[in-house]
Amino acid sequence: MPIRMKPFLRSLPPAPPPRLAPAEPPPIRMAANENPLGPSPKAIAAVQAALNEIHRYPDAGGAALKHALAARANLSPEHVMLGNGSDELIMLVCHAMLGEGDEAVLAQGSFISYARRIQAQGAIARQIPLREMTHDLPAMAAAITSQTRLIFVCNPNNPTGTTVGATELLAFLDQVPDDVLVVVDEAYIEFVTRPDIPDLLPLIRSGRDNLLLLRTFAKIHGLAGLRLGYAFGAPDFIAYLERARPVFNVNALAQIAGLAALDDTEHLTRSLAHAARSRAFLSAELRALGLTVIPGETNFIAAAVADDQAIAAAMAQRGVLVTPLSAWGLPGWVRISFGTEEENHACIAALRAILTR
Ligand SMILES: Cc1ncc(COP(=O)(O)O)c(C=O)c1O
Repeated sequence: MPIRMKPFLRSLPPAPPPRLAPAEPPPIRMAANENPLGPSPKAIAAVQAALNEIHRYPDAGGAALKHALAARANLSPEHVMLGNGSDELIMLVCHAMLGEGDEAVLAQGSFISYARRIQAQGAIARQIPLREMTHDLPAMAAAITSQTRLIFVCNPNNPTGTTVGATELLAFLDQVPDDVLVVVDEAYIEFVTRPDIPDLLPLIRSGRDNLLLLRTFAKIHGLAGLRLGYAFGAPDFIAYLERARPVFNVNALAQIAGLAALDDTEHLTRSLAHAARSRAFLSAELRALGLTVIPGETNFIAAAVADDQAIAAAMAQRGVLVTPLSAWGLPGWVRISFGTEEENHACIAALRAILTR
């Protein structure tokens, strides 16, 4: 008799295959929303200085980093949880909140991990189409049922880069029953300039207990390879979620690098300026190629193309990796992560060659 696998896990599409690009020259990576300027130099120095200690287990409580994050957010360390990337936190939240037959509400056309992790629990992902490429919060509120346990709002949204404002989001939160957890994923929050972007920290401070904010060191801080994310939430919920994690989920070098990166304002300022320049350049060039782009506030841009899979494949042939969005529920769109200035130019050149072929 074959081993008894969980049918809902077995039926998930396979994890995305590694992108095997031509070995030489190495591909231009514009598919994972990384920081093209590299890691924070302060983080590199801190990691180098810590290498002789990697025979030791990390601090399982992540105390130093939790204190630093809490102090910056005017919260207590009990409001903070660390994860092996915020992706691990997404998995742990789903594990902690969902069982077979439960429901989670999320946008269709949002970060791909949410639906996978919901389905991996045997739960039902109620995916609500975007409206004007933005979360349709009224429709999401209307989709809440007595089975709903969890809601994901990605703000700014990956892969569209769009945001919802404070008035809309607070009105939405008011409609969510107290026993449903809302996860607001703020992986790209540092890039946002919109003045009315929701600041949800006061809600956490004031004791709101059905709200969890997710953030990451993978984007603006440039530490994607080390895997480090964090959550802010109510102490009681954080203590609950902590029970679900492996003891040493965040490695020692990640903790040290994160601490150093937090203080690297020079790297943050440079990264923001580079993202703003890249956004202006790529939007203008993509529009000049006749493509519709979504105005966003992140380190990537989505553009409408006739066939996203074909365009992404042709770009890969030319050594530029971008993300086709069919699998994300947005056929006909590609997401282009910002590269270095040179890479941005190469990306446009490749796209121009393909479109004018
Ligand atoms: C919205 C969003 N959330 C979470 C993640 C996961 O980030 P991490 O590298 O911290 O796991 C990503 C990564 O692309 C993302 O776009």
